Amino acid sequence: MSNNSVSQSDYEELKKTLNYHSYRYYVLDDPTLPDVEYDRIFQRISQIEAQQPDWVSSDSPTQRVGDRPLSAFSQVAHEVPMLSLDNAFSDDELRDFSRRLKDRLKSELDIEFACEPKLDGIAVSLLYRNGELERGATRGDGATGEDITQNVRTIPSIPLRLLGDGYPEVLEVRGEIYMPRQGFNALNDKAREAGEKVFVNPRNAAAGSLRQLDSRITATRPLEMCTYSIGFVEGGDMPARHTEVLEALHGWGFLINPEMRAVKDIEGCIDYYQRVGAKRDQLSYDIDGIVFKVNDRNLQDRLGFVSRAPRWAIAYKFPAQEEMTLLQSVEFQVGRTGAITPVARLEPVFVGGVTVSNATLHNRDEIERLGVMVGDTVVVRRAGDVIPQVVSVVKAQRPDSAKDILFPKNCPICDSLIETVDGEAVARCTGGLICEAQRKEAIKHFASRKAMDVDGLGDKLVEQLVDEGLIHSVADLYSLTSEQLSELERMGVKSADNLVAALEQSRTTSLPRFLYALGIREVGEATARSLSRHFGNLASIVEASDEQLQKVDDVGPVVARYICEFFAQTHNLEAVEALQSAGIHWDDIEIDEADEPLADKTFVVTGSFATIKRNDAKKLLQELGAKVAGSVSAKTYCVVVGGGAENNSKYVKATELGVQTMTENELLELLAEHGAYQLEQG
Ligand code: IVH
Repeated sequence: MSNNSVSQSDYEELKKTLNYHSYRYYVLDDPTLPDVEYDRIFQRISQIEAQQPDWVSSDSPTQRVGDRPLSAFSQVAHEVPMLSLDNAFSDDELRDFSRRLKDRLKSELDIEFACEPKLDGIAVSLLYRNGELERGATRGDGATGEDITQNVRTIPSIPLRLLGDGYPEVLEVRGEIYMPRQGFNALNDKAREAGEKVFVNPRNAAAGSLRQLDSRITATRPLEMCTYSIGFVEGGDMPARHTEVLEALHGWGFLINPEMRAVKDIEGCIDYYQRVGAKRDQLSYDIDGIVFKVNDRNLQDRLGFVSRAPRWAIAYKFPAQEEMTLLQSVEFQVGRTGAITPVARLEPVFVGGVTVSNATLHNRDEIERLGVMVGDTVVVRRAGDVIPQVVSVVKAQRPDSAKDILFPKNCPICDSLIETVDGEAVARCTGGLICEAQRKEAIKHFASRKAMDVDGLGDKLVEQLVDEGLIHSVADLYSLTSEQLSELERMGVKSADNLVAALEQSRTTSLPRFLYALGIREVGEATARSLSRHFGNLASIVEASDEQLQKVDDVGPVVARYICEFFAQTHNLEAVEALQSAGIHWDDIEIDEADEPLADKTFVVTGSFATIKRNDAKKLLQELGAKVAGSVSAKTYCVVVGGGAENNSKYVKATELGVQTMTENELLELLAEHGAYQLEQG
């Protein structure tokens, strides 16, 4: 069909479809369309727009890529001021807050509170007129902000046009724009490699990305927006409870925080604070506290405001994720691949909920960029389970005695020369396995959970074994005896027996695990799986040429080179042989069905999953050639039913149609059978 035969209503329909799927992907985190199909529709819309430029409207998904740079932001006066929040730092302060509310309301009845994580980002206001995004603005001083419409339009979780109906004619939605940790770390890693400016934390990265006069730059930044309130509303009503307001916003296309709950009275708030606090590190974004709001909006109106904060809300803060402390010295650690990492030894400081005394300084460039010296006061950041980092230096507090940090020329462990490859930020020890540090790290990696999974062989024990001269290589592990082990300090007969048994058990493994355990640069679990599925056996991988390797998904020229280099070294081949002689074995993977064993089979995945993310499950199924659909039909091959889905419509339909179902565990077994997933051993 040529584009000329497409009617404008077909085009509008395509746009609507894509906007809906974009909402499922970015807001509901539950896509029902494979990525390729999404891209195909996007391409189709772009093609039509190229032929019919008059049809292009501002809510087209193609209009999220950014616009020409502005010379300055214009000012925006907020119709309703954007307030801030009072803070509480203890349970007692929270109880005082509740006491003040009850006194003011002259009521001892329980109060219902809406609880939401306090996102650490930038507050913004979005104005919709007749469902269309008209303006985005920063909070500014609360009364006046800056017009950042072009920039907010590039953020995929912000609807350009509201979904469904029932929204007010004019609706101002407020929320926080933030950068999830993963995106932040990736952005900084890339900048660090390229020797460009890195951001101190996700909040600064979000602020810097939004403050771009060139929205095409904003479009490349991984930003999200989560809505948490409304401002100006005209020509329509909103529900009576705050949590219902947010649910309504969600239905119209906005992302709301999935942790949001309504609880009874202040003790419910304290429970919530503890529960979310316990999983703060596991969240995919930074939060600096919990916001509690009186849920009944009539009560909110009765309570009103004091100066710049509402009386009906409070932010209960978590321990800070950034603190200042003293840099006492710098040590240089040697990693598994010889990478030299400068590590800051710090005066212990409580940050992000734990006491931190070491932080990474990444590499030589980073030391230069920070301009840091021993004796400086530095800002340390610890967020999530990422290792603590030195993010800035308080130069005003530098003592006269501060000393330069000297990057060593020789390895601090084996004295081999340290080399820096042009274009790489990382300096490496050239000692290879002669270097005891690299040997230790290689053995630790080999024994680790996702590799050979040798239970009981932790990092400390590996160090001890190498230090005592009991092992020199990974294969030596398999000749260790209970007698030898039980002579080690802090090692009883029982633990020694257990370790020997664990080593024995690890002899039976899988090709992906073994390949990953070898510790080839850039060969992580996923690449090890792809290689195994593609080649089926180790010998073929060892012999594969650069070109053949690059045919594997995931493997580009750099990884292919590392793999070739690894197997070109005699000592690595000897290590592999020694391991096989020590009895390490696995089943090869049938190569005939290796590529797409689930081709032509359609799966539907529903419910919540405990071991892997539902989206990852879908991706792995697709890797094996399966189609993943959003609804069940007679053509569905199998419905994977996660927790809580036992009574949902997809499950019921599957039963009605006689379509087979499987549990999450059965799915994991199926994926493992085809080398797409590694089951935990033992
Ligand atoms: S409500 C009148 N809810 O915290 C109520 N604010 O210190 C105004 N923030 O400027 C805000 N997460 O940027 C609210 N769930 C949340 C929030 C939140 C983060 C930020 C917001 C505000 C600041 C107040």
